[in-house]
Amino acid sequence: MITTRSLGVLFSVVLFISFECLSQKEIEVSIDERVEALLLKMTLKEKIGQMNQYNGFWNVTGPTPKEGNAKEKYDDLAKGLVGSMLNVRGAKEVRAVQEVAVNQSRLGIPLIIGFDLIHGYKTISPIPLAESASWDMGAIKKSARLGAMEASAAGINWTFAPMVDVSRDARWGRVMEGAGEDPFLGSRIAEARVKGFQGDDLKENNTVAACAKHFAAYGFVESGRDYNTADIGENTLHNIVLPPFKAAVDAGVKTFMNSFNELNGIPATADAYLQRDILKGDWSFDGFVVSDWGSIKEMIDHGYAKNSYHAGELALNGGSDMDMESYIYVNQIESLLDAGKVQVEQIDDAVRRILRVKFELGLFDDPFLYCDEEREQKVTGSKEIREGVLDMAKKSIVLLKNDNNILPLKKEGLKIALIGPLADDKNSPLGNWRIAAENNTAVSVLEGMNQYSGNSITHAQGVRLVNKIPAFHEEVDINTTDRCGFKAAKKAAKKADVVVMVLGEYGFQSGEGRSRTKLDLPGFQQELLEEIAKINSNIVLVLMNGRPLVLNWANENIPAIVEAWHLGTESGNAIAQVLYGDYNPSGKLPMSFPRSVGQMPLYYNYKNTGRPGAEGRDAGSVFWSHFGDEKNTPLYPFGYGLSYTNFEYSQIEMSSKELNFNSSITVSVNVKNTGKVKGKEVVQMYVKDHFGSVTRPVRELKGFELIELAPGESRKVSFTINPELLKFYSARKKWEAEPGQFSVFIGTNSATKNSASFSLK
Ligand code: BGC
Repeated sequence: MITTRSLGVLFSVVLFISFECLSQKEIEVSIDERVEALLLKMTLKEKIGQMNQYNGFWNVTGPTPKEGNAKEKYDDLAKGLVGSMLNVRGAKEVRAVQEVAVNQSRLGIPLIIGFDLIHGYKTISPIPLAESASWDMGAIKKSARLGAMEASAAGINWTFAPMVDVSRDARWGRVMEGAGEDPFLGSRIAEARVKGFQGDDLKENNTVAACAKHFAAYGFVESGRDYNTADIGENTLHNIVLPPFKAAVDAGVKTFMNSFNELNGIPATADAYLQRDILKGDWSFDGFVVSDWGSIKEMIDHGYAKNSYHAGELALNGGSDMDMESYIYVNQIESLLDAGKVQVEQIDDAVRRILRVKFELGLFDDPFLYCDEEREQKVTGSKEIREGVLDMAKKSIVLLKNDNNILPLKKEGLKIALIGPLADDKNSPLGNWRIAAENNTAVSVLEGMNQYSGNSITHAQGVRLVNKIPAFHEEVDINTTDRCGFKAAKKAAKKADVVVMVLGEYGFQSGEGRSRTKLDLPGFQQELLEEIAKINSNIVLVLMNGRPLVLNWANENIPAIVEAWHLGTESGNAIAQVLYGDYNPSGKLPMSFPRSVGQMPLYYNYKNTGRPGAEGRDAGSVFWSHFGDEKNTPLYPFGYGLSYTNFEYSQIEMSSKELNFNSSITVSVNVKNTGKVKGKEVVQMYVKDHFGSVTRPVRELKGFELIELAPGESRKVSFTINPELLKFYSARKKWEAEPGQFSVFIGTNSATKNSASFSLK
């Protein structure tokens, strides 16, 4: 089809060709025009080459089909049969592959170099779930920016992040990689991360193209088992799963990655409804879609494609533009085209999208833009990056419990027993995605606590980590066979004024392929905690983990609990600053913490059902939606987190109780710091739509503001509610607000009862 746009582009291309003797800079040609000019010169093979992505021979993040065939891959680079590589890193190494592509291939098209820059490059920032607990969009954006600065100096110009999958099931190991359970918070975080990675100008050498993944519904894999099937209806897809992806598109994300899972019977990699109708159609996304690792080939195992040939056909028709490590596009597309199974327009469209991003990155102006070894040396691990990572780590910590203000601890004169397998562990805090980091480079809690105080600290592991120095992908375990460390730990606890126990999951216990059926403290850790509590109950429990855990016993018996996730390189310093009160914790949970694994999936924005019931109501009745052996509510709700100070909320004031389709209302509260220290609070606003053409959640986050108050200070916090904010994907299959009754809740977490009502007419 010839459109006005393509005619215009064609005209400019003719102009461009006829002015060929002028230099690039002398002619003001747009990226679209440069793409078209290049496309005209490309052979079919070269076009298909752009749609092909190879792994860079190390750091294999999945089963590799052509193990170690480096020579063949290099030859393909020289033939122009590769558009991108992943996992090649280091300015020198990237230059080496880029030189082959640029100097040896016929058209010299530069490679786009992809990498899983998920939470930092060499200097590791907190896992994304932890960062999300900050609810601090500025800090999250800055963290992505710093990661991009460090990675781009090492030759990388494309990150496979942010993962924007909404996740409601803590059994799924990849909850650590996302923003948690809520689509509204998830959307704000998606925007912040995309903007952080991509910066203001993608052409700068310190920015990287971002990638919203995994499209779509990967967070809804059944029973939280990774790679499993997802089966959800339109209502959940549009109202819960898609909003953060849409937010990423609106923020200008350059690429998308599809997902391993099938969605309602169709592998996402071949889902034309998702990729062509919604993403490239309704949302006008003009970047490109990369498959997930080998996901084109995996459609054979899904039982959707007969063979590789068929998989290629399905993937391209479904809207996948680039093939990550399946080797299917490069081997099959030509014959698929000959057989009329795919169209040349589809190939051109995919290549256009890929080339456009390369142009936008400035790679055609300087393919070695990201390959400056001097810069790499200067930037890697720089003071600015370390300080930024430390700042993010402090902001990510969530105080779950603090009876009798046992925290913060005094800095002098205390005898502290520091106990637990993770207390001196310099590896686990680096979390899961830390491909470029050196093992054992995090500041441990032991180191941090020693550095920030003059207290006497006795350290005992209690439970050992087995095989403690893992290379990437090597598992360690938290001991389940050997209690010999208990004795020393008990001895230390007996003599101590206060016991700090650092327990949780080792760094690789969450993440891709790390689903769990249990959400307890693994190994002998729970037993150790109970044994120590018998000796000295003055315990501060510091948790390191990549997902919500079941903490019922600790919540009942331990006076202070600090959720410290996997906080990255500066972990121990951040934790020590919080424990000693140099930083007043302000994090709020981005996922509900369950009482039992049997509650999974668990989320605050659930549906009421036809048989709701407050806990305890209808005593004696069984016929309402509940569990016979556990409450429905979480142990700690979404949005929950304490501070070393207290905040008092006023009742809600409203500018009006009536809203119409052309107006807005303002709802406000006064928040007062009633404690003795300065503190930050995330003021959260939720809305309940009482009835709709499809049923609506019991409440939904619709606004939040992070404020800081001095002791005694109060501030009015206001939110605007307009019909736009009340829109949802309705029974009429469109985003719209429906008239009716609403409640608004403003408070300190998703369980707040502070409410008022209004109507939309
Ligand atoms: C993951 C992706 C990742 C890719 C490349 C896959 O296994 O699902 O999220 O970006 O590997 O490493």
